[in-house]
Amino acid sequence: MTPPVLPGQPQLHYRDQTLYLEEQRLSELARSHGTPLYVYSKAAMLQALDAYQRGFAGRKVQICYAMKANSSLALLQLFAQQGCGFDIVSGGELERVMAAGGDPAKVIFSGVGKTRAEMRQALEAGIGCFNVESEAELEVLSDIAQAMGLRAPVSIRVNPNVDAKTHPYISTGLKDNKFGIAHERTVATYRRAAQLPGLRVVGIDCHIGSQITEETPYLDAMDRLLDLVQAIEAAGIAIHHIDFGGGLGIDYNGDTPPAADALWALLLARLDARGYGNRQLMIEPGRSLVGNAGVCLTEVLYLKPGEQKNFCIVDAAMNDLPRPAMYQAYHAIVPLDASAKMPEQVYDVVGPICESGDWLGRERSLAVAPGSLLAVLSAGAYCSSMGSSYNTRARPAEVLVDGAAAHLIRARESVSDIFRNERLIPTTAAAKQVVA
Ligand code: LLP
Repeated sequence: MTPPVLPGQPQLHYRDQTLYLEEQRLSELARSHGTPLYVYSKAAMLQALDAYQRGFAGRKVQICYAMKANSSLALLQLFAQQGCGFDIVSGGELERVMAAGGDPAKVIFSGVGKTRAEMRQALEAGIGCFNVESEAELEVLSDIAQAMGLRAPVSIRVNPNVDAKTHPYISTGLKDNKFGIAHERTVATYRRAAQLPGLRVVGIDCHIGSQITEETPYLDAMDRLLDLVQAIEAAGIAIHHIDFGGGLGIDYNGDTPPAADALWALLLARLDARGYGNRQLMIEPGRSLVGNAGVCLTEVLYLKPGEQKNFCIVDAAMNDLPRPAMYQAYHAIVPLDASAKMPEQVYDVVGPICESGDWLGRERSLAVAPGSLLAVLSAGAYCSSMGSSYNTRARPAEVLVDGAAAHLIRARESVSDIFRNERLIPTTAAAKQVVA
């Protein structure tokens, strides 16, 4: 049998019909750590980062990894060691950056709903920039910073109103999205920011969406952003850095997004042409740094033939890997052993959760039997980080592969971990009286 196609994943390959990530035979990892299991390739992440770094050679650029894509500490540690900063969206993510040895000065804080406590925490840590998403947030941030005797560094997220041509749930740059400040309100909002005593305007940012596979939305957004920089600076407010957000897509199923260096060659040419090529630039890539570096290994539990459909029931589910259930997202699913002699059949690959939405792949042709091991591909981004313990299913372990070495970077959760913070209600007579 010819081994299945492996879209996107640079470090994944069959050797003697057996699936390897870098130099690691994945079936061995499944055996030693159990399934479901996330496995990431360090080399694939460094390769993805390198494509950006090549594209930016000779420029002033800070890459801030959007850690919502995958916030496992070891991955943050790896990116911090490479000089990356981080795009965070919560106080919890800031704590992760600190725990992983990241530099708070290279942190930018995005998100429409920062709480006062999170603002204080980020100011105390000395983060590099708040990406502010509303006029109301500007006022609150100024008050808090002033009370602390500080001036918060701010950038305003503008909504360039361009169509990123991606899934509606992950398109963020259109007028009817909750994100950013409308194009028309931008200069007025900057004027207000410049007046507020607790703020220091440092930049401008936008983020138009995720899994973008075309160049045009980026070029359009850049033009609109530069028009705004021009207008803001004409109003006497200096913009030190320009942040283009994240969003570059990856290959899940024959998708053909531009390579990071090729895309940035185009964008930098546009910046140069408009005279902004020497500015401090920032980007916030998430998916494109980690998405195709990871797989989720799962074991076939049962095959269930049906009149309409055949089901392949596996031990991973929508709680471990929610993208198919949430976005009808496609993830390739391939066997770890491609030499298996079972008859190939078409299956819906589903998990054990009590929901019809619990599927990982539909109508996949597979040669499997109970006990077969499968890999769900392109599972490095927005899979583990979006996981839950729904149905009281403990979260999977995670392994980082580095050549022939494999490091356990997250131990499998235990069920007692899941309900550690829960309490039974008191049952003594005294407690009953209090309730009565
Ligand atoms: N910056 C901001 C402000 C963002 O909101 C995001 C992602 C990024 C950067 C990183 O975007 P990326 O480079 O990863 O496309 N859960 C969805 C994706 C949600 C993206 C949310 N924002 C999915 O699984 O497809």
